[in-house]
Amino acid sequence: MDKIVIQGGVPLKGTVPVRGAKNAALPILFATLLGRGRSVIKGVPYLRDINSAILILRELGMTCERRKDGAIEVEADDDSRFTVPWEQMRKMRASICALGPLLARRRRARVSQPGGCVLGVRPIDLHLKGLSALGADIRNEHGFIDARAERLRGSTVFLGGPFGSSVLGTANTLMAAVLAKGTTVIECAACEPEVADLAGFLSAMGAKIRGAGTPRMEVEGVEDLECCEYTIIPDRIEAGTFMIAAALTGGDVIIEGAKPDHLAALIDVMQQMGVQLSIEDGSIRVRSRGPANSVDVTTLPYPGYPTDLQAQIMAYLSVANGIGVITEKIYPDRFIHIAELARMGARIRKEGPSAIITGVKKLSGAQVMASDLRASASLLLAGLVASGLTEVHRIYHLDRGYERIEERLGSLGAMIRREPEEE
Ligand code: EPU
Repeated sequence: MDKIVIQGGVPLKGTVPVRGAKNAALPILFATLLGRGRSVIKGVPYLRDINSAILILRELGMTCERRKDGAIEVEADDDSRFTVPWEQMRKMRASICALGPLLARRRRARVSQPGGCVLGVRPIDLHLKGLSALGADIRNEHGFIDARAERLRGSTVFLGGPFGSSVLGTANTLMAAVLAKGTTVIECAACEPEVADLAGFLSAMGAKIRGAGTPRMEVEGVEDLECCEYTIIPDRIEAGTFMIAAALTGGDVIIEGAKPDHLAALIDVMQQMGVQLSIEDGSIRVRSRGPANSVDVTTLPYPGYPTDLQAQIMAYLSVANGIGVITEKIYPDRFIHIAELARMGARIRKEGPSAIITGVKKLSGAQVMASDLRASASLLLAGLVASGLTEVHRIYHLDRGYERIEERLGSLGAMIRREPEEE
């Protein structure tokens, strides 16, 4: 496994383009199972998670190839397959997105239960509630979810849970509803732009969906869907990570392709911190000098502050003036990065689902261990601003969600390199 070595202290400068959104691309790739013919999905980033999705689609009898121009072509070859084994499922939770389309199109889905995860307990009860409401007969046997249905039937289902809506739970129910007989209403649907993008793809295939991007989605089932060409939205989490990197290093960076309306909560937090943001239609310019003001941040479902940018803003608050409190309302245990940031001199105390961060003047470079994807990003950010050398070990997760991030930060002037880890 590789590690990333950073010499901190360089303000980032220049322009960096944003790639397509991982969390939009993944469900959309699985949604290709629903259509007839060949889908061409453009703007799909080169990531480990995308490779995992490609392997699962092949396992499910799809031909799935990356073209020279980066687009991914998918077409059904053998539609008798319906099993996603544990070896595939354990690599990526998003594989659960195969459930809805398989059930709707092939009438059967046998998907391994996703494992536990460093973000804490991640149940799938809302996925199963959505699919059961459409008439699926679901059993949980030998570690597999085994779901069967003749033609699914539209119905009304409330998909709110103790932490609000579910992004992939909404995606799974939506993908099943588009081919169901009759009308489905999803109440408390997730409003994330990635769900709206999935609805955009399904609509381009001929699905009839109203209210995508709102908490009430209405789907009129159709008999058939035709595959099509589609371009994925830009990745708001990647854009946000670059925005925070630019501000934290006291830099001046244009993030090209970022969609400001997808980043309203982060923009608000950064403005409160005193960062200068120039917002244009297709880009965001971030400029910052001197230490930022501390703020309080609460993660919430969209359009609230995203949990996927929580670890990164914690790195920034670690060197801000004063005390900031981060409250995690989506994954109350998503705080593994606290211990690693503390190794670099950050002063952070965890109190239940909150972290209390007292800003320090300087972080100091250290050997740290990456855990989940966004925690890994926060350690890179901390390394960019720390004095001396930081080595971020076990960066496996980083490659799941950020395309060649060290090269792109390097193009902004960061002194950063990837090295093979010595055993
Ligand atoms: N939840 C339930 N029951 C369910 C499903 C979820 O109680 O059946 C709870 C979860 O435990 C959590 C909350 O509901 O407390 C929200 O979870 P959600 O289902 O929305 O998460 P997800 O769909 O599994 C996606 C992203 C995550 C992101 C979350 C929250 C993808 C592939 N994954 O996961 O992204 O953190 O939404 O926004 O879209 C990442 O990219 O690093 C990542 C973890």
